[in-house]
Amino acid sequence: MPAIQVKTASAKYPVLVGSGILPTLYRRLPKRNHVFVLTSPEIWALWSKRFLASFPKDIQPSVLFLPAGEQHKRLIHVERLASELASAGADRSSLLVAFGGGIIGDMGGFLAAIYMRGIDYIQMPSTLLAQVDSSVGGKTGANLAVGKNLIGSFHHPLAVYADIDLLQTLSTRELRAGLFESIKAGVIRDARLFRFMEQNVAAILKREGKALEYVIAASIRMKANVVGIDERESGLRMILNFGHTIGHAIEAATHYRKLLHGEAIAWGMIAALHLGRTRGTISPAQADRVECAIFSYGPLPVFNTTTAKLLEATSHDKKNREGKRRFVLPNSIGNASVVEDVTDAELTAAIDWMLAKVRKS
Ligand SMILES: NC(=O)c1ccc[n+]([C@@H]2O[C@H](COP(=O)([O-])OP(=O)(O)OC[C@H]3O[C@@H](n4cnc5c(N)ncnc54)[C@H](O)[C@@H]3O)[C@@H](O)[C@H]2O)c1
Ligand SMILES: [Zn+2]
Repeated sequence: MPAIQVKTASAKYPVLVGSGILPTLYRRLPKRNHVFVLTSPEIWALWSKRFLASFPKDIQPSVLFLPAGEQHKRLIHVERLASELASAGADRSSLLVAFGGGIIGDMGGFLAAIYMRGIDYIQMPSTLLAQVDSSVGGKTGANLAVGKNLIGSFHHPLAVYADIDLLQTLSTRELRAGLFESIKAGVIRDARLFRFMEQNVAAILKREGKALEYVIAASIRMKANVVGIDERESGLRMILNFGHTIGHAIEAATHYRKLLHGEAIAWGMIAALHLGRTRGTISPAQADRVECAIFSYGPLPVFNTTTAKLLEATSHDKKNREGKRRFVLPNSIGNASVVEDVTDAELTAAIDWMLAKVRKS
């Protein structure tokens, strides 16, 4: 199985994508005295038998749990989990495997970053979103009451093992939500991936192995390339936020309850495409094609909010610097750039356009 290499200024590690990785997990891990697994009770109920079967009977990992849900991505759990590691005798040579979706990956990575000032960990992502996006790139963290992902650190895993078989138990809604991040990957930097997703909707939604593997590997390759060039998001990495300025505003305005992250980003991309369309950075024909592709992976849930609320929420965007709003604009399918001069009037028009589509859905 060919590995995709992530190579940044501070780390180098392989990302494996394919079927049948879980049964071979143990022999892929570096040999350590103590292996810990962080997972959620739901995922463990589905996959523990197959997970543990890869370990020799006399060398079983210790299992730590984090309940599912964004409300548990909090420091209080990091402290609890660190105490559990300490009680179980974890030391600097212990290894942590983060086995789950993006929440487990972000929290596991953060725990590994700060336990005894840093231990090694492996990402074993089990949602599509975690496989195509969050497990790669070294961003780890937790939420504060006032905002998402406001504490954290960069801590890269030793390796990422993305077993596509894990996706067979994922809900269709979660699958679709992850696919919107792959559409994003295609639009900002990989026209071939975008075309593939445009032409293979049925196969991808049916989770056909070859089609899924292509989409996941291409998305990861794109992200690995971008974070290899700009690990700390001082420039290029910001393009990964295409659709995220308004997407995050939608998530905040709907209190993170109504939409999954990928669904909010899909609506955010529709707004950003309109901004590009009216500015003339992307041709109307290409913008329409992307919008059409997004809806072909729908349905997108509707939500209730106002343009004013969304506009206000975009002013808290983490990309903004010194009062300047940063916005990712599509130039053509496969190319995007970051601009700083987007006006309130342009954003208002883009949000109005998107909300009109929400109302029609
Ligand atoms: N670090 C990064 O660069 C980065 C990038 C994007 C998103 N994120 C973070 O990722 C998180 C979202 O991740 P997510 O979308 O994976 O959500 P999630 O971790 O909440 O998982 C979604 C749901 O799917 C369930 N699940 C997971 N794997 C399953 C499987 N194989 N079968 C059945 N059910 C399964 C989980 O129990 C959960 O209920 C957010 O907290 C976000 O901030 C981080
Ligand atoms: Zn995202």
